[in-house]
Amino acid sequence: AELATRHDLIVVADEIYGQLIYPPNEHLSIATLPGMRERTVTLNGFSKSYAMTGWRVGYLAAPRDLVAMLTEPRHTLSINTSTISQHAALAALTGPQEPFEAMFAAYAERRAWLMPALTEAGFTYGHPGGAFYIYTNVSPTGLAAPEFCERLLRETGVMLFPGTMFGDESTDYIRISYLQPLPLIQEAMGRIATFVASNAARAGS
Ligand SMILES: Cc1ncc(COP(=O)(O)O)c(C=O)c1O
Repeated sequence: AELATRHDLIVVADEIYGQLIYPPNEHLSIATLPGMRERTVTLNGFSKSYAMTGWRVGYLAAPRDLVAMLTEPRHTLSINTSTISQHAALAALTGPQEPFEAMFAAYAERRAWLMPALTEAGFTYGHPGGAFYIYTNVSPTGLAAPEFCERLLRETGVMLFPGTMFGDESTDYIRISYLQPLPLIQEAMGRIATFVASNAARAGS
């Protein structure tokens, strides 16, 4: 916020994971900081918190003049979000929130299982404060992340994505998402551990 104010910048804050935050972390909207409301475009949507990716509903909050400018190109692109999707989003917001809570509890459980399993397999990683991904360093395997992912897929059937797909210049990281049910994640983790061990054996021989 200080940087943006000093250099008179507009901040685009994608807060789509703002509700998926693991305690004791807390979500902070940058627009709530002093002086930021008038220079922030806050983005959000229903794809993550309500698992409604296919419904294509999102929204933004921004100063009035910016909204006016953003509305024009938006109209040119698709006129409006479908009415059915808007009603579905409204139902998600105003309906019972237990499904969200159950989904978030499942993510927390998978995260808690996966982190020690990765440590045991010899990986280091960033502890996710939110969302449903673990950014994992595969450099100790001696494989660059794109090669790691391709070989893992071909040899074990487990599909993960290298960080390079998300703009990372380093080839050290893969992105593991824990959106699948825990038993599948456990199966995948077993295959990953076997792959890492056989790769080490091959490299050593
Ligand atoms: C940070 C971030 N923003 C936005 C999106 C996509 O949102 P939408 O489905 O609303 O286009 C994703 C999906 O992976 C994401 O990770």
